[in-house]
Order: sequence, then C-alpha cells, then structure tokens
Amino acid sequence: EKGTYPHYMLKEIDEQPLVMRKIIQAYQNEQEQLAVDSEIVEALKAADRLYIIACGTSYHAGLVGKQYLESLAKIPTEVHVASEFVYNMPLLSKNPLFIFISQSGETADSRAVLVKVKEMGYQALTITNVQGSTLSREADYTLLLHAGPEIAVASTKAYTAQVSVLAILAHAAAEALGMKTNLNLVHELGIIANAMEMLCDAKDEFEQIARDYLTTTRNCFFIGRAIDYYVGLEGALKLKEISYIQAEGFAGGELKHGTIALIEDGTPVMALATQEKVNLSIRGNVKEVAARGANPCIISMKGLESEDDRFVIPAVHELLTPLVSVVPLQLIAYYAALHRDCDVDKPRNLAKSVTVE
Ligand code: M6R
Repeated sequence: EKGTYPHYMLKEIDEQPLVMRKIIQAYQNEQEQLAVDSEIVEALKAADRLYIIACGTSYHAGLVGKQYLESLAKIPTEVHVASEFVYNMPLLSKNPLFIFISQSGETADSRAVLVKVKEMGYQALTITNVQGSTLSREADYTLLLHAGPEIAVASTKAYTAQVSVLAILAHAAAEALGMKTNLNLVHELGIIANAMEMLCDAKDEFEQIARDYLTTTRNCFFIGRAIDYYVGLEGALKLKEISYIQAEGFAGGELKHGTIALIEDGTPVMALATQEKVNLSIRGNVKEVAARGANPCIISMKGLESEDDRFVIPAVHELLTPLVSVVPLQLIAYYAALHRDCDVDKPRNLAKSVTVE
C-alpha cells in the first residue's frame, strides 16, 4: 500500500535506505561479512567469462555490475541486452556463466536467452526480486534482492538493490579467488544507506531542479564518464519513461563525435561528476556544451565539487557511487513527470513486467 504517499514511485524511492539495510542483514554471515552461497562462488570461480543478460533498468545495473566483477574479482564480464543477445549471440568463451538480472523474474526477452543457454548446457544465476519467479526457477542459482514489492512501472529500489547485490557477489568472488579488495562492504553500504536518507530528505532541491530545467523542455541529455556514464543512462531512461521528455545518456567524451550538434540554447544537460579520475575531463565536457548554449546541471560528490555545481552528494566509496548518484536522478524524473501532469506510476504504453517478446 502506498499509505500517505501520492505515488508508489516516491514511496519506493524513499524505501531505498531501508532496502540497503535489509540487504546487509540478508547477506551477512556469522563473521558479520557479506557473503553468498558457496556453490554460487564456485560457479563464478569456474567460469572464464561472465555474461550478464538483462533489459532496461536491470541492464543498466548490469553495466555497473560488470565494473564490480572486473575490478574486484578480475573476471572478464560482458553485459548484453537480452532481446539482442537472443538473435545475435557473440562468440562465447569456453566456460561461460550466465547472470540474469530481472526485478520481476518474468521478462520474456531474458527468459528466451535463459531457455537457449540452458539448452546449450550452460549454467545460469538469476538475480531477482521475486522468489519462485520463472527466471529464478529455471536457473541453477538465485540471489534475491530483498527490495519488497515494486509497484511503480519505473524501477527505482530494484536498481539500487541489484547494484548492491552485484557488489556483494563480486566481493565474495574476489575473496574466494584470493584477491585483496580493501572493501568493507558492511561498513560502506551502511554509509550508502545514510547518504540515501540525506538525499531523500532533500526532495525540495530536486523538485526545484526539475522546475528550473525540465518544465517545458522537449529534450534533456545526461552525461558522465566511466561509471557515471552508466548512471546517466539510467537517469535518462527514468526521465523519458515517466515524463515523455526525450532524454538520452551519453559518454562525456563522445559528445564531440556527433551529439554536440543537438545542443541548442537552453538544452538541459545533467552532468554527473563523482569519479576522481574523470573529474577534470567531465567538467571539460560541461564547458563544451555550455559554450554552445546548454543549461548544465552538475551533480557532483563531496571532495570533487566545484562552485558551479547544482547539487553535491555525500562522499561514498568510489565504486559504489551509482547507489547514491541515481537517487537525485530518480527524484528529478519524478518531479518532472509530476509537473507535466503525467501518470507517474503508470506511464503510457508501458507495463510493469514485459512478458511478451
Ligand atoms: O523485471 P525486469 O527487471 O526484467 O524488467 C526489465 C525492464 O523491463 C525494466 O527495468 C524497465 O526498463 C523499467 N520500466 C525501467 O524503469
């Protein structure tokens, strides 16, 4: 039930700190470390390459997951959109392991891939919010998101739960493979939960950003580099699906290869700057679009901020920034849709779970 909330989406955004804490609880072992079943870790260890398969928001979580699996556990990982993979399969490695990410566990495009790879004799792990869902039943292993029911069509708390579970999985695989990660996930995810709470308490600021940038615009761009680019893709999807504003996410460095031609006077450009290694270069990209008339809105992280930034999120571990930087984008999309009188929880032409191919 949505209780006193006007929309499920807002309630589900607000639930994210609680979901973080639930995930910590659910995955904590006796040593108070976050862990996954040993058979899942063994399956990852035995694989020479991981193939993440998903759609929409879950695909965006997969992109972040690839960073975790490669940087922490050093396992080569590919991320694919299910509807493409099924008809256009890449050359597979010798010992692949498939990881399906699906909030509902019922997405037909993802299931089509699962059926195919099971026929080929490969193993699969499903990361889902719904115990007993089709993708969970048909895979060899399951990891649950513990996000509670997600009702709004726009996925919010499932995304942050997916990213967290992927971090836990990558960390567990790294430990099992004897790699030093220097990452205390219980501690870091606790910091994340607090940071999310602070962002959920700053709703007025995000409502104002939506008012200032998005009330009448036809389009909006999201830019970022490295992991921020992936969060930008998710921010753009959130905005387009509920506010019907044409929104696209781009890698900051790609702008000059074509996209910058779209910039006109007043074009809103949401820029994420949470990564030290690309802080200067993304700010360079912001200057490039501003010089062509864009209206940039920089969301940065404490420690990397500069005076032009519109909002500074609290500092968190550099790998885990998507868990916090996505929250402003969710709230900005929510308020943009609200201001434009859109049906926030049930956007046109969309269903919560897409059970047809
Ligand atoms: O249930 P799933 O995670 O498999 O769903 C995948 C997509 O259909 C879903 O994430 C969709 O993109 C959302 N509406 C995004 O907010």
